Amino acid sequence: MSQARYEQQGEVAVITMDNPPVNGLGFELRRGIVESLMRAKADDSVKAVVITGAGRAFSGGADIREFNTPKALAEPNLHTVIREIEASNKPVIAAVHSVAMGGGLELALGCHFRIASTGAQIALPEVKLGILPGAGGTQRLPRVVPLEMALNMIVTGEPVKSEKFKGTRLFDEIVEGDVLPAAIAFARKVVTDKLGLPKVRDLKVVHPNPQGYLQFARNTVRAVARNFPAPLRCVEAVAASVSMPFEEGIKAERAGFLDLVQTPESRALRHAFFGERAAAKIPDVPADTPLRPIETAAVVGAGTMGGGIAMNFANAGIPVTVLEANKEALDRGIGIIRRNYENTAKKGRIKPEDVEKRMALIRPTMSYDDIRNADIVIEAVFEDMPVKETVFKKLNEVMKAGAILASNTSTLDVDKIAAFTKRPQDVIGTHFFSPANVMRLLEIVRGAKTAKDVLATTMKLAARIRKLGVVSGVCDGFIGNRMIEQYSRQAGYMLEEGATPQQVDRAIEKLGFAMGPFRMSDLAGNDVGWYIRKRRYVERPDMKYPKIADKICELGRFGQKTGAGFYRYEPGKRDAIADPVVDELIAAHRKELGITPRKLTDDEIVHRLIFALVNEGAKILEEGIAMRASDIDMIYLSGYGFPLHRGGPMLYADMYGLYNMVNRMNEFAARAAQTPNGDPSAWTPAPLLLKLLEQGKGFND
Ligand code: 3HC
Ligand code: NAI
Repeated sequence: MSQARYEQQGEVAVITMDNPPVNGLGFELRRGIVESLMRAKADDSVKAVVITGAGRAFSGGADIREFNTPKALAEPNLHTVIREIEASNKPVIAAVHSVAMGGGLELALGCHFRIASTGAQIALPEVKLGILPGAGGTQRLPRVVPLEMALNMIVTGEPVKSEKFKGTRLFDEIVEGDVLPAAIAFARKVVTDKLGLPKVRDLKVVHPNPQGYLQFARNTVRAVARNFPAPLRCVEAVAASVSMPFEEGIKAERAGFLDLVQTPESRALRHAFFGERAAAKIPDVPADTPLRPIETAAVVGAGTMGGGIAMNFANAGIPVTVLEANKEALDRGIGIIRRNYENTAKKGRIKPEDVEKRMALIRPTMSYDDIRNADIVIEAVFEDMPVKETVFKKLNEVMKAGAILASNTSTLDVDKIAAFTKRPQDVIGTHFFSPANVMRLLEIVRGAKTAKDVLATTMKLAARIRKLGVVSGVCDGFIGNRMIEQYSRQAGYMLEEGATPQQVDRAIEKLGFAMGPFRMSDLAGNDVGWYIRKRRYVERPDMKYPKIADKICELGRFGQKTGAGFYRYEPGKRDAIADPVVDELIAAHRKELGITPRKLTDDEIVHRLIFALVNEGAKILEEGIAMRASDIDMIYLSGYGFPLHRGGPMLYADMYGLYNMVNRMNEFAARAAQTPNGDPSAWTPAPLLLKLLEQGKGFND
């Protein structure tokens, strides 16, 4: 069946794009539109055509799933469709009832008239996928809205509500309510009043000083776009709308589009777009699984994490009760929450009255009686199994039937925690990242007995509190921290071999990481990793560790909070300053091990860090701890500062080539074998990696 439905209402033909979920302009839909237009053209009883979209969107744009496939360019391509519309000898009117984005807006701009309902979301979001609007958007939009407005929309990709275009030539009418009858009425008026076939391409871009403005735009965009080529190419394409005739401008736009769509940055952004949406899909949990209602929440523990978690609920309008064992800690925790809100209000990010509104949703208590009716309770007490045991036994006793019992543990076994209750099916891990009210990632840990509806409800709740929920199975460290341990080990080995903390941090920050491993460790607290390693030395005596981090901790250098770690810090400041004490400690340690320091290149540093992540990621995938490679990437993009333009560790490996990666790993292993305290076994390729290599596939294939 055609994806473009055709019907006639009197002398008006209505073409309805119908390609769920968002009427992506894929090959079949494009063909359907052109065929429908031909039919209208050939029918003498048709005097005008209305194009609209079925369901929730006019059109979300080109079908992103077709990119880099033959279908993307197959005729009729989007240019051809728009040309056919524009050249039609019968007026074509776009009826935009909701989302008109990317190619969807470009198609509307090819129509002779456009009618929108209020609230419709209008955007050229291509830049967010690392490309530029490639079907005339950069040439037509500046012809119908002010140049500044067009450029802003194209460079940021942000949606603008239809009513904001009042007074511009983008829409001929903006109507309240149902747009289709209004568009049909308008089409009749076009015919009776002989309003003709106006084309956007015939208009001129109007601006008092376009070259001056464009130069200003170039300078601004160059400064902020940093790792991404697309925003600046967007400016250049818009500049062509000013300086070139329409057809030449279209060619310049096309060239920019074709260049950008091949870039690794665009691949990474598209991977992130689909990866985020894929993360919500759990193969054995159907999308229509009935959810448990979540109207109220409780948090146990008002420390660093508990406070931030409670804020997430209040921000989403969900009342939350915070329970503490210690009155002082409770008052302190609530005080910190209030200060956080007050600071946010001072910065103008929330209204002053929101502080009280949100505080009113947070109820402090020391009594379990006050939380028993909550629909979900999140435990965020000390990371200590006996303490968790006490709390979960109590929750089991007091919480109403059907309540979700979640733990924010970062390292403990969720199945063991579930076993403290008589309702393990209701227990789940919700691993927030610090600061919990800011960080977008939420690892959702599915226990062996977690019920499907508990998992589905928690995933949905993640979206409600504006987190990116990613499912992890139960293992030590879950997905993110289990991988980061291997990364940290390599960072430590590199210090032993000859690098400085500054060199390691700088190399990976140059690649785009928000923070290198040593600055990160100083920020999080070096004692956290030390505590975990001490446990490992007992549980896994076979596993080797570099020992400089332990020696740093033995000096009480826990990082920023103690004013010194791998770096030193001036009181009240966060700048990491190289510290000769650390250099001396490292030199003495090397001497003790009998290591003659060598010079490490930035390339070695970066690849040892990233491939350590990838190799562990491959094991996690094979064990089924992660459902898919893109889930791992989404965790790293949203929780660990992995640069967005690189798409995450697993995509990085795919783009580097698994063959090349394994060769590098072999090199690293050979060198580790010759280094005192080195660990060549860290570079034994995960079986999945070898399997994929043999099949000539990547992690994301
Ligand atoms: N192509 C293919 N699939 C698309 C799509 C597109 N352009 N836009 C969205 N989808 C899919 C999503 O992958 C998702 O699929 P799933 O249900 O299987 O996971 C589904 O539509 C729903 O998407 P969301 O979950 O994002 O739904 P929302 O209602 O929250 O948002 C939206 C809808 C505002 C349209 C949002 O999806 C969006 O911003 N999409 C991207 C739009 C875009 O970037 N368009 C430009 C495309 S490039 C282009 O047009 C090139 C041209 O210039 C030549
Ligand atoms: P914290 O020490 O700041 O806070 C813990 C709070 O729990 C304290 O206020 C304490 O008084 C309270 N508490 C202890 N026993 C209690 C009990 N029986 N009943 C009620 N309250 C009790 O600890 P933090 O950092 O907030 O960590 C909490 C949990 O979150 C831990 O499991 C930790 O592993 C995890 N986590 C911590 C992260 C971090 O960066 N700090 C990140 C992700 C998870």
